[in-house]
Amino acid sequence: MTKVLGISGSLRRGSYNSALLRAATGLMPEGATLEVASIRGIPLYDGDIEAQGIPASVSQLKEAIVSADGVLLVTPEYNNSIPGVFKNTIDWLSRPNTDARRVFGGRRIAIIGASPGPFGTIMSQSAWLPVMRTLGVQLWTGGRLMVARASNVFDEGGTLKDAASADALKQFLAGYVAFLRHTPPAA
Ligand SMILES: Cc1cc2nc3c(=O)[nH]c(=O)nc-3n(C[C@H](O)[C@H](O)[C@H](O)COP(=O)(O)O)c2cc1C
Repeated sequence: MTKVLGISGSLRRGSYNSALLRAATGLMPEGATLEVASIRGIPLYDGDIEAQGIPASVSQLKEAIVSADGVLLVTPEYNNSIPGVFKNTIDWLSRPNTDARRVFGGRRIAIIGASPGPFGTIMSQSAWLPVMRTLGVQLWTGGRLMVARASNVFDEGGTLKDAASADALKQFLAGYVAFLRHTPPAA
């Protein structure tokens, strides 16, 4: 069984990105699972808090990442870049520095996103690249998924209603899971 952990970078109840992640759980290829994790409860990064110990919410998310075969980041876009709450989570997960390699080094990660605008998070997905490089992950770049004009793609209840988007998501997940099956985690 191939185990993927999905993390949405939005706290909003009606989040398109969380809706996209939920839709993905039902479109995984056979023999693969997608577990949904949340950034809720992750405090604002503060070196003084870190000096007292890594918060439990951060440690739990770290262990969920370590025990998964791959991590799917579902990113919103704010001001053409990464939303602060999502970056804050990844920053916490990279602490302490001595543990960053265990959590992220060689980790097989994929990024998708949704926005109501016409470009579907293309800028925020690009903004993640230097972060991924710094953390030393293996980013899967064999597919791209930018869900644009999200208000037409999801219904009021957050269900993915657009068939073309569902198909694109399914294909993305199939490609990513094939990558996970054929590419060993980097040492
Ligand atoms: C501070 C802020 C900046 C935003 N900037 C962008 C942007 O640059 N590009 C974009 O496509 N959408 C932008 N948006 C709109 C978000 O894509 C939209 O709020 C989206 O619903 C957020 O993702 P979510 O639905 O998962 O919460 C911005 C929203 C906020 C709150």
